[in-house]
Amino acid sequence: MINLPATTHVIEVIYLIASALFILALKWMISPATARRGILAGEIGMVLAIAGTLLHHGIVDYKWIAIALVLGTVIGIPLGKVHMTAVPQRTALSHAFGSLCVTLVGTAEFYLRSPEVPRFMMSVLSLEVILGALTFTGSLMAAGKLQEILPQRPITYKGQNLVNLSFLAVSIALAVYLVLHPGAKQFFPFMVGIPLVFGVLMVIPIGGADMPTVISLLNSYAGLSAAAMGFVLNSKLLIIAGALDGSSGFILSVIMSKAMNRSFTNVLFGAFGQVQPAAAAGAEEKTVRSATAEEAAQILAAANKVVIVPGYGMAVAQAQHKVRELYDALTKRGVDVKFAIHPVAGRMPGHMNVLLAEADIPYDKLLDMDEINSDFPQTDVALVIGANDVTNPAARTDASSPIFGMPILDVDKARTVMVIKRSMSPGFAGIDNPLYYLDRTLMLFGDAKAFVGSIVRELAGGGSHG
Ligand code: TAP
Repeated sequence: MINLPATTHVIEVIYLIASALFILALKWMISPATARRGILAGEIGMVLAIAGTLLHHGIVDYKWIAIALVLGTVIGIPLGKVHMTAVPQRTALSHAFGSLCVTLVGTAEFYLRSPEVPRFMMSVLSLEVILGALTFTGSLMAAGKLQEILPQRPITYKGQNLVNLSFLAVSIALAVYLVLHPGAKQFFPFMVGIPLVFGVLMVIPIGGADMPTVISLLNSYAGLSAAAMGFVLNSKLLIIAGALDGSSGFILSVIMSKAMNRSFTNVLFGAFGQVQPAAAAGAEEKTVRSATAEEAAQILAAANKVVIVPGYGMAVAQAQHKVRELYDALTKRGVDVKFAIHPVAGRMPGHMNVLLAEADIPYDKLLDMDEINSDFPQTDVALVIGANDVTNPAARTDASSPIFGMPILDVDKARTVMVIKRSMSPGFAGIDNPLYYLDRTLMLFGDAKAFVGSIVRELAGGGSHG
């Protein structure tokens, strides 16, 4: 027999330790040097949270829990093994599962308690299911867009924002009615169903380029709905974990929007991210200068100061280990090599840091945009590897550009710019990059991994690739 008060005590202590670990996990994840420890702390915290919950005296039968654990594990293991570039959509799926769970728990709690639901309880329960439901379908849409199962382009029509906001307004009105009349069970399915539709409508007008920001915003909603569920279930752990999730997701969205110089309203209602065929087509007519791996190796070997600028293409090509070899080869020759990290390079926050850490590039060589930008005028070679939008000078000079105002890495100020990419195709924002047509720019056409590999071979003196 379980001794109830003693077990409750044990559970509270376990939850307290789990909460502390969640807070430490976020703190440690701030720096690449402590990020691994942060992940471990988060994992131990989650194991403790699950263990504590399994000790709960309210559990009458472990059979269904065991089945759910097996099912969750079977689904979770392959989800954990996706390619790094698919992590944003994988994260969106996790938010969808989490918020579906929150919505179902809220629904069950309502039907168990109705009509005796106190007003505060009904308010948080309504918040829980509305946020949970819209996050569920919104996250599925975001994952579908990023996986290109759904069209990436914004799907818009006249009066769309008004239609969307009226959906939200109706569900809030229903929530208010249910707070005042918790016995009106017939309205509850509408209070859940309307936000489910709203979640879809909210995400379809947003372009694929803005999905990572949207996902981090949905992360914040999922956290808030979990915190609301904590009030419903009287779980301090859920309140703390949900609040951490909600606030960190929100802060991340703000950081990402700032790094793209976009306001929230512009992200959510701006229909950004359409490939502009005119701009892309224009690229074909202008001329660029290209170079071979042999020429690139000679230029790099003659340089004193090189700044490597990684971007999404390095991630796609999985070129980080070759980049490490290049770093080693150049530093061995006495070249000063640094890495310039743009906050939204790649497709998710910290994307470049994670890849370069995987390849054991020393952390002190990774410099944020603000730290490195003043170095470019004294840099002999800026070597751009699969980055495009984050180096586009149009963001500084062309007021008509969709990325105008976005802070960029000032690679065009370096003495020589070399850009590794496969073609003249645009980056995620779908716009041409004037950097490629500068006199000092050399295009190194090819796959990032293969091309960097060829440069490394040339530097070692054994290359035959041209
Ligand atoms: P992008 O502007 O997307 O450009 C990536 C470039 O990599 C492309 O031009 C592509 O050109 C090249 N590429 C693709 N595969 C390659 C391969 N195998 N080898 C060599 N090159 C390859 O990347 P970026 O500069 O990193 O900018 C990120 C973009 O994502 C920004 O617009 C940013 O606003 C957006 N975004 C990022 C985030 C986060 S959190 N990171 C969030 C929201 C939005 P080719 O096809 O010619 O090779």
